[in-house]
Parts: sequence; structure tokens; C-alpha cells
Amino acid sequence: MSEAAKLSVNGKEIELPILVGTENEVGLDISKLRASTGCITLDEGYVNTGSTASAITFLDGEEGVLRYRGYPIEQLAEHADFIEIAHLLMHGELPTQTQLTEMQSTMRFERTIPPAIVKLIASFPQQAHPMAIVMAAVAGLSAHHLERIDPADPKQVAEASARLLAEMPTIAAYAYRRTTGQDFVEPTKDLDYCRNFLHMMFSQPDKPLEIADELAEALDMLLIVHADHEQNCSTSTVRMVGSSDANLYASISAGVAALWGPLHGGANEACVNMLEMIHADGGDVAKYVEMARKKENNFRLMGFGHRVYKSYDPRAKIVEAACKKVLAKLKIEDPIFPIAQELERVAVTDQYFIDRNLYPNVDFYSGVLYRAMGIPSNMFTVLFAMGRLPGWLAHWIEMRTSPEKRICRPRQIYTGETERNFVPIEKRS
Ligand code: ACO
Repeated sequence: MSEAAKLSVNGKEIELPILVGTENEVGLDISKLRASTGCITLDEGYVNTGSTASAITFLDGEEGVLRYRGYPIEQLAEHADFIEIAHLLMHGELPTQTQLTEMQSTMRFERTIPPAIVKLIASFPQQAHPMAIVMAAVAGLSAHHLERIDPADPKQVAEASARLLAEMPTIAAYAYRRTTGQDFVEPTKDLDYCRNFLHMMFSQPDKPLEIADELAEALDMLLIVHADHEQNCSTSTVRMVGSSDANLYASISAGVAALWGPLHGGANEACVNMLEMIHADGGDVAKYVEMARKKENNFRLMGFGHRVYKSYDPRAKIVEAACKKVLAKLKIEDPIFPIAQELERVAVTDQYFIDRNLYPNVDFYSGVLYRAMGIPSNMFTVLFAMGRLPGWLAHWIEMRTSPEKRICRPRQIYTGETERNFVPIEKRS
């Protein structure tokens, strides 16, 4: 391949350097474009725009490949646990036994959140969406961990990121308890990351929680498959906010906000709501596939389609296999699982979906497992945020430490009024 592409603008020819990544992804470096031609590029939704070079996660949407730091997601989901994955993403390598033990210890001993944040969570109305609470609580930590908010101090950043990982399940579980009108259950250092989270969610004073190993393991796997996905909407938001030198908590809180939307992390909640609706409507999946085909219905199959995957999302395969295994082992019969499988079968053989390369994404089956754990659908996106946290942290740290770091500040093509004179109010019609 040549080392530069040629572009001709208004009779002037310039060369754009060609960059090739380690997996042979090719990009044109347009950083000198405006300076040399006066032109900018326009790419609504950033469909063709690489916002950064990154060494964290590789994904090939055509082949359905996802790797964290080079390791295939299938191997990580089978052999690693979430804390190892967090270390891998944030530090670049799988931890040694000593590093893992140290990280697990931080995860156990730093779970308690500041009393003022507990009060803040308690002050929310019961009908609040838990994502609103998580967003506020994470942002609120920046007011209570003043000794950890300098983004330019690597020691403070290391402490803030490790502790936020430990604090996030507590915030998430308290958001659930608040929105279900239940007292908070304090974290315990006696349980691992996932079991402690389930304990804070579901333990009752008169009834200690018995956690089936299958469910704790399924939760760990779900956190792993959600842990990173390169420059997605929420991760790009975290990087963008952080690029202004905003502190870590402010940046992560913005990521939570971006994740909330149903076109991104909110799809898991929307997907289960859709599956329940199909079930309540008699289970006729073909009717809903037909509805999704017609634009005038303004209805999409939730959990289907992806900006980057144009083949099967490898995470959906892992999650579907886990659904089969866990439901069978625990003898759980959830009517929405066969509906989801049938919906997939009908949709992937439908010409509309074939033509547009629409397949189930990670959110299509995850809700089935969350339901098996007793987690209500308005908490699904919170679980996604818990899983995505190490990815956000890894990207924020990569962005902060990059020698190329600059404030993210896109341009625009202005299409509004040209200059006109101010009109006094009495003369306005
Ligand atoms: N159901 C029906 N049609 C769909 C769907 C769907 N789920 N997704 C895309 N399409 C159609 C669009 O209508 C469009 O059709 P057209 O070419 O005839 O106009 C075509 O497929 C391309 O869709 P776009 O919206 O242009 O694709 P984009 O890359 O912008 O959006 C997205 C990707 C947002 C994920 C989209 O597929 C979608 O809305 N899916 C449902 C929501 C969802 O599951 N989101 C979770 C994504 S994964 C994640 O964030 C964790």
C-alpha cells in the first residue's frame, strides 16, 4: 500500500498520510487538512471517523471478532474473572497472582461509599430511574474524594480508578434498594465482587441470601462481555469529557449518561420490555419482525443491529449459550427466552434483516440472565455500566497519558442565517 492518499480540492492536490493499525485497519490522517485546504470533513454520527489511535480493544465487525488487549473475548469469558479483565484493560496485561491478590483486596476493602453519597441516594424519589441515581452518585464522588480528583496526578488517578471500581457495585445496589423502597445493605468484605453485589441487592435482615454459583458466575461473565467495546458512544463521551481536563468522576458520570439511551446501553431494558410485550401479545414473533420492517411503524427490534458488527455479535453467542446452560441447570422456565430465540430465527432469515446485516447484539439475551438473578429490567443498564466501567477507565487513562492528547472539539458546517441586523421587539412580527 502507498504511504499517502492524494486529495484534490479546488485545484490543489494534497497528500494525506495513510495509517495502518496492528490489525491492518487503514485510516487517512487528515490532521493537516484544514490548514492546507481550508476544508473540514463532515461525518454525521462519526460513521467513518477514527477519533483516536487506541491499543485497548480490537473489533472486526465484518468477521464478528472482539479482543481485549489481543485476547479473544471467548477465551476471556470462559477462563478469566472480571477483576482480571479490569486489570487487563486498565494496565495492558493480565495480572500476576500478586497483582491480582492486591487488586482483589482493594475491591473488598474499599466498597463503602461516603455517608453523604448514601444520603444523596436516599434523597432520590422512589420512582427515579436507577441510572439517574448512578449518574448523580458518581458525579457526587468528585465532591467527596477531593484528594483524588487531580487528573494530572497519576497516583490520584490510580487510586480514584481502583476505588471507583470497588464503589460502583455499592452505588448500583443502593440505587436498586432506593427505587424499590428497601433499606440499604452494607457491603461485606467476605464475599467476592459479584456475590457481594448480589448480597447488597437482595439480602434481607431475616433471610441471608443464598447465591447459586451458576448465577454469580453468569453475572461475572456478563460484566466481562460488557467491559469494553472500543470507541462506542459512552466511551467516546468519557474520553471527550476527560479531554477538557475534567476529573475522572465527572468523565465517568458523563459516560453513564451516554449509556442510558435505548440506542446504546438502554437497549437491554428496551429489549426485555419488547420480549415481554410479544409474550403478552401471544408470542407471534413474525408480527413484530414485520412491524420492524416498516419504517412508518417507528419500531425497531431492540437488541438487534450494531454500528460496527455487520455479522453476529460474538458476545450475543456467549450470552445465549450461558442462558441455555444456567436456565437448564437451575430449572428456570422463562417464557421470554424461547421467544427471543424464535425472534432471532425469524429475523436472521428475513430479507430486510439480511440486506442490512442486522443480527442480535450483546443486549439481546443479557436480560434473560438478569431476570434469572431476580434483577428488574430498569436495573439492566446499571449492570451494563458496572461492566463497562473498566473500559471507560482504561480509555480515560489512555487518553490522559497519550502524547497526542488535545481537547476534543469538532467543527461544523454552519447552515444557519447569514449576518443580519438586530430587530427591536416592537418591530418583530
Ligand atoms: N430493527 C429494524 N431495523 C433496523 C434496526 C433494528 N433493530 N437497526 C437498524 N435497522 C435498519 C435501519 O432502519 C436502517 O434501515 P435503512 O437502511 O432502510 O434506512 C438500517 O438498518 C441501518 O440502521 P442505522 O440506524 O442507520 O444504523 P446505525 O449504525 O446508525 O445504528 C443501532 C445502529 C443504533 C445499534 C441500530 O441498529 C439500532 O437502533 N438497534 C436497536 C437498538 C439496540 O439494540 N442498540 C444496542 C446496540 S449495542 C450497544 O450499544 C451495546
